Amino acid sequence: MTRTCLAVILAAGESTRMNSSMSKVLHPVGGRPMIAHVVESLVDAGISSVALVVGRDADQVTSAAKRGDIEISAFLQTERLGTGHAVLAAKEAIAKGYDDILVVFGDTPLITAAPLMVARKALAEGTDVVVIGFQTADPSGYGRLIVENGELQAIREQKDASEEEKRITYCNGGLMAINGKKALDLLGKIGNANVKGEYYLTDIVEIVRASGGTAIAVEAPEAELMGCNNRAELALIEAVWQKRRRHELMVSGVSMIAPETVFLAFDTEIGQDVMIEPNVVFGPGVTVESGAVIHAFSHLEGAHVSAGATVGPYARLRPGANLGRDSKVGNFCEVKKAQIGAGAKVNHLTYIGDAFVGEKTNIGAGTITCNYDGVNKHVTRIGANAFIGSNSSLVAPVSVGDGALVASGSVVTEDVPADAVAFGRARQEIKPGRAKILRERYQAEKAARKK
Ligand code: UD1
Ligand code: CA
Repeated sequence: MTRTCLAVILAAGESTRMNSSMSKVLHPVGGRPMIAHVVESLVDAGISSVALVVGRDADQVTSAAKRGDIEISAFLQTERLGTGHAVLAAKEAIAKGYDDILVVFGDTPLITAAPLMVARKALAEGTDVVVIGFQTADPSGYGRLIVENGELQAIREQKDASEEEKRITYCNGGLMAINGKKALDLLGKIGNANVKGEYYLTDIVEIVRASGGTAIAVEAPEAELMGCNNRAELALIEAVWQKRRRHELMVSGVSMIAPETVFLAFDTEIGQDVMIEPNVVFGPGVTVESGAVIHAFSHLEGAHVSAGATVGPYARLRPGANLGRDSKVGNFCEVKKAQIGAGAKVNHLTYIGDAFVGEKTNIGAGTITCNYDGVNKHVTRIGANAFIGSNSSLVAPVSVGDGALVASGSVVTEDVPADAVAFGRARQEIKPGRAKILRERYQAEKAARKK
């Protein structure tokens, strides 16, 4: 398409119905602010000029929307007088003269590029105003689309709708494409004579028709146009987003036994033939290479899992966990900011933090890297082919050389050279017959108490 386009994102609303200390567009979906999803769809649709209308939490909303590959200029809507008023906050940008003006809402994060392109195509074919609509079983809260003879006559807001109009299930998704040559003129004619006393963007439909122009509605799936006004809707949107992303991953070659129990983040990357068992949560920043297995009830965030590695069940990988090829992090283990070498095993009830574990090293059950002295964090370095006996504490900063062996139950406070054995515990003593003597004494004491 050679036509120029400006997208105006409305994100200045008060978010009253969210009952939140922050703007709703900052609330996360798939682990990142809603507004960032909207911007991504614009980028996917090939749009590079974006005007962002901000009000509440202006600075945070602007920085959540920003990204490296496009320019976004922010405009402050100082008073929240409605969506029609909000678009005009970006008057200066619109006045630069674009072929197409696209208006999108910051609280509609499931939108994809497809309907935006369809709307622009209709503008290119000569329509003046194109509204993206959707059919829904529960239209409450949405503006209703009044269509006759294939033309959009008007959009009626819920509060202004008659009983008959309220029964319409074809709704305004909040996305609109406007002929750029007429946009400022049409927007300038919007008034506020309605129940809420707001300037409704939706009035533009009747305005354009009154001036002899044309308006149509094009339908898109409900799952792309759900708006978020309160937290119940936020949860519904999250559910739709998760379902969509799981589907994409499964189709790309990832196995999930119970996909509805797996939760993904916007940037989760999972390779082919990875198996994900039930109840796994991915926070932001996780990459999993092909053939890895993520067993049930694991939680991963900011971590990398190399090919063939296995995680869990019940493992927690925190930011900076980097698992080498074919390594294992097993049940009830926590790994943070640590490199686990290829083929190394961290199998049971262990904490590895701020550490390097060499290739093929075995970390016994209950090992703890004591990385924190209450003030600073310190590093533990364990070489390749080492063996850390169960229930050992490695008090950082400390290092264990290649091939070294740490006896179980050790508290290691000094560096262990390669191929050395470190004992960090009291030696065992045997007292023959002593248990019997003690037992008889305790029994006598108990009997004496009962008398
Ligand atoms: C709006 C539409 C409704 C549509 C629905 C789709 C209008 C009048 N109504 O209703 O037809 O079905 O979206 O989700 O347009 N905003 C501002 N400044 C303002 C007011 C709002 O920037 O002064 C922003 C909000 O931050 C939000 C968006 O505009 O991102 C929509 O506003 P909202 O109040 O949520 O509109 P709805 O009542 O949902
Ligand atoms: Ca809304």
